[in-house]
Amino acid sequence: MGARGKLSPRAQAIIFSYYEQVIRPLKVLTGGELWINGRLTQAEISFGESIEKIDKDLDGERIDCSGLIILPGMIDAHVHFRDFNDSHKEDWQSAGKAAVKGGVTTVLEMPNTNPPTTTLEMIREKKKRASASAVNFGIYGGLTPENIKNIPEIAKQVTAFKLFMGETTGGLEIKNRSMQREIFQRVAETGKVLAVHSQRLDSPSEASDIEVALEHALMSKARLYLCHVRTQEGLQLAYDAKRDVDVTIETCPHYLFFACEDVEKRGSWLKVNPPITSAEDREFLWEALQRGMIDTLGSDHAPHSQEEKSKPFDQAPFGLPGVETSLPLMLNAVNKKRLSLARLIEIFSENPAKRFGYASKGRIAVGNNADLVVVDLERSARVERKDLATKCGWSPYETMELQGWPMLVFVRGKLLFDAR
Ligand code: DOR
Ligand code: ZN
Ligand code: ZN
Repeated sequence: MGARGKLSPRAQAIIFSYYEQVIRPLKVLTGGELWINGRLTQAEISFGESIEKIDKDLDGERIDCSGLIILPGMIDAHVHFRDFNDSHKEDWQSAGKAAVKGGVTTVLEMPNTNPPTTTLEMIREKKKRASASAVNFGIYGGLTPENIKNIPEIAKQVTAFKLFMGETTGGLEIKNRSMQREIFQRVAETGKVLAVHSQRLDSPSEASDIEVALEHALMSKARLYLCHVRTQEGLQLAYDAKRDVDVTIETCPHYLFFACEDVEKRGSWLKVNPPITSAEDREFLWEALQRGMIDTLGSDHAPHSQEEKSKPFDQAPFGLPGVETSLPLMLNAVNKKRLSLARLIEIFSENPAKRFGYASKGRIAVGNNADLVVVDLERSARVERKDLATKCGWSPYETMELQGWPMLVFVRGKLLFDAR
């Protein structure tokens, strides 16, 4: 016993871990099929915070998953969760619920918040809020002319860095090429991944912006993560550069499900940066996804209030919510045979885990974190406003009928979403 009869933190930790490991019964999912090593396998799985066993006739609190499939939790490496001075749009509580409801058990959150995540103090504040939310998280450090010299210290506190090379929400853009190069070099020295928003608002093409980012990465040997690639030319350029550059290519659901005709009809509601492009690009993206040219899917969840998105096109902010609809949209695509389940798990779980260093995530395996999504591939439902957890309260996918939905979601073994 420590002072005044209280248990020391060490004693508390020992008792807690004894409780977790010995007393608390493990959960067992029975009757379902597990996604293991690239295919579905009929087996039971038992877990506490981590996966204990994959076998038959396991002991524990049994949960019937007959007719369902069990996937590793999705890892969304591109979300904007707002909070602080923009908590009318979203905060970590609402966003965490939205993520988990959508089968996303880990997020990487962008730094263009208000205030931005560009100082050690803001990193600390953001982690406090994020820790109290439902979802596992990593955060990106933002870059400004003032904090370049602090990159080594910031690197110790963040999962990765994010550089905005063109104008967008939050005003963090750095357009000066030599300053961009210095940032690439300094981030490369830390060994952290550098995610970039390479698009400039006034640029002639996506490819011309991607080319600049690739050149910086080639010269600095940075580990590059290209956000929201969406055109045939841009994607081909980035894919071909893989010979010489360590680059990961991301796309987002809105470039797969919308084309400029939709933007003409729906105006500000589909205003996003970079903008939605042609139907030909959209079809090329689907083929490229299936062929393996694209490495990851990120939602680019960027919520703005309905009042803000009701403004005329030139005054409305850029961005669409998406963290809770990405998995259902993609499961629906799997049902329609636009994409294999294997590719979906690669781009939305395995590859993000590998790229951002989550060695115990992205795969169902003994010892890995019990971040699990139990999915019903048969269930059909409409995306409806009343069901949304995001605080912004709307979705660009409203009224779409989708087949394939999360039914149970476990984050480190805790059941945090149950649609049964
Ligand atoms: O549409 C966008 N919204 N693009 C961005 O680059 C930022 C994001 C946001 O934070 O609203
Ligand atoms: Zn961006
Ligand atoms: Zn973004």
